[in-house]
Amino acid sequence: MHQKISPATSVSGAIQLPGDKSISHRYGMLAAIAEGESKISNYSTGADCQSTLACMRALGAGVETKDGVVLIQGRGLDGLQQPAGALDAGNSGSTIRMLSGILAAQPFVTSIGGDESLSKRPMARIMTPLAEMGARIDAQENRFPPLTIHGARLHPIEYTLPVASAQVKSCVLLAGLFADGRTTVHEPMRTRDHTELALREFGADVDVDRLSISVTGRARLQGRELRVPGDLSSAAFFLVAALIVPDSSITIHGVGLNPTRSALLDFLAEMGAQIKILDVSSSGGELIGDVMIRKSRIQGGVLEKARTAALIDEIPVLAVLGAASEEGLIVRDASELRIKETDRIATIGENFKRMGLAIQLHQDGFEVPGKQQFRAAELDSFGDHRIAMAFSIAALAADGPCTVLGADAASVSFPEFFDTLQRVTE
Ligand code: S3P
Repeated sequence: MHQKISPATSVSGAIQLPGDKSISHRYGMLAAIAEGESKISNYSTGADCQSTLACMRALGAGVETKDGVVLIQGRGLDGLQQPAGALDAGNSGSTIRMLSGILAAQPFVTSIGGDESLSKRPMARIMTPLAEMGARIDAQENRFPPLTIHGARLHPIEYTLPVASAQVKSCVLLAGLFADGRTTVHEPMRTRDHTELALREFGADVDVDRLSISVTGRARLQGRELRVPGDLSSAAFFLVAALIVPDSSITIHGVGLNPTRSALLDFLAEMGAQIKILDVSSSGGELIGDVMIRKSRIQGGVLEKARTAALIDEIPVLAVLGAASEEGLIVRDASELRIKETDRIATIGENFKRMGLAIQLHQDGFEVPGKQQFRAAELDSFGDHRIAMAFSIAALAADGPCTVLGADAASVSFPEFFDTLQRVTE
């Protein structure tokens, strides 16, 4: 799908966003291995989270959607069944990496793969700890999907993550649920903690001691009624839209504000964004609230170290903001961007070039000068949802209409993106 986007004169109104992608995956997986029914409202409508549901269904869980609520009949810790064929994780790194932790503990062999982009994403990061726990996993060139996972009775391990990755942490903790004893993961820096919070909600025994997280295996999980907060990473596109289009002011209701995810709001506020957070409450251990933002003068900034890791999914749209800011944006320590759904340093660079925007690319980041003029151009998602959405936002500030090729990639995390964008732009 090619999407035409015209320059906007204002972005305004109030919106609600589909459920957080990270939390939806975790609830979907845990509900399937819990006992009894779970009712999950505001589950992400994105294709990635639907891939997780399809995998859980293929493994024997009852999964249906009624009036927008996902109902999952859990099969208990030992109740999953060997799927009839290979599991399809689609475009979803979270599905394949986290679910592998569960598959590694099953008394059967499972194959799991996905689309062309997923087939290039590194899996050694989960294969190493799962092998240490006792599973055997075969992969293409020893590191790429599809994976063939020979499940086994797992032993608990203590594992230090070589890279800060919530997906790998979650994979090991999920595997640890099935092992006799206590599995501990040490993180080099704090990553999103949705798995820890969700495990507790479903009744597992989880201990967090600074950067070390432990789970005790063989706990019986119970089905729950849960509501997924709106996705802050999806909100990021609208926050930046309000900051780069004149006369803008927008309210986003019911957004997830988990402190391991909300570095975005602090960073925007530090750069000068006028942001207000209202009506904060907690749901399923996750903070949730309304975010109001209005057009502000944005100074620019530097993203590095732990902050880069905390904002990794928002970097494409922050690059756009950087070019519109007073002093620009420097991003360092972001080599993980090279192995996301696309090489995002390259795909950001290519779209900048097309819009006549200056950017200096590095192996692990980039530098974007500020005060730049956005030229109308034919842009390309390269099949990457966050690139599709980030450059649709850039197009709002261009000097003429732009086209985004492959814009349908947005539906991987946010199928309603273009409808929502149309509702708030003039
Ligand atoms: C995610 C963790 C991050 C993030 C991804 C979702 C998760 O990846 O980029 O979009 O849900 O745990 P890594 O854990 O690989 O850094």
